[in-house]
Amino acid sequence: MQAVSQTHSTRPLFIPVILGTVRVGRRSESAARVMTAELEKREGIETELIDIARLEIAADDEGETTKDPVFAAKMKRADALVIVTPEYNHGYPGLLKHVLDSCLQEYIHKAVGLAGVSAGVFGGTRVIENFLPVLREYGLVTIFWDVNFANAHKLFGEDHMLLNESSLPRIDQFLKELIWMAKTLRHGREHISLE
Ligand SMILES: Cc1cc2nc3c(=O)[nH]c(=O)nc-3n(C[C@H](O)[C@H](O)[C@H](O)COP(=O)(O)O)c2cc1C
Repeated sequence: MQAVSQTHSTRPLFIPVILGTVRVGRRSESAARVMTAELEKREGIETELIDIARLEIAADDEGETTKDPVFAAKMKRADALVIVTPEYNHGYPGLLKHVLDSCLQEYIHKAVGLAGVSAGVFGGTRVIENFLPVLREYGLVTIFWDVNFANAHKLFGEDHMLLNESSLPRIDQFLKELIWMAKTLRHGREHISLE
């Protein structure tokens, strides 16, 4: 059995943001950049934007045999994930699922929050609902706040930042919850044995 440490971990939480589509012209890139920028403002957090378009994941196999060592190492190091997913026919992009399927052990007992991006007014609520059972199967722990970027074509400027600040209170609430869950689960992973 793994030794259980009695010390409280003070190292920063690592919370990467996964940009979940490779589509040229994707608005989700702006959403992911906003989420990364908001995380960067918080003390005690390290973050980075992981663009699934830049990963070396084989397309002719499935699951952990397709593992990209760099992506897997980031998932192992992560305390929580923000996944930015567009809504495509009420679902998540197949390529996003393909990338996430390349890991499993790396996710267990870690927090995850979803930001949905859609052209329509629901801000990806339907893709988020569809995604939750998949995230559970990875062993991730979902939080009960989401971020919804509705009417995505009207939200972001050329610099990828928000044209107005109306989304910021929701992002703040979401990140507070995610960080709380990340700290709680890290404490559990480091101090509480399953046996
Ligand atoms: C194949 C496909 C299906 C889509 N289905 C939906 C949908 O079900 N609901 C919706 O609001 N927008 C839908 N959209 C529009 C996207 O949500 C919109 O492009 C948004 O900006 C997020 O995707 P993006 O990051 O690729 O830009 C769809 C777009 C594509 C390419």
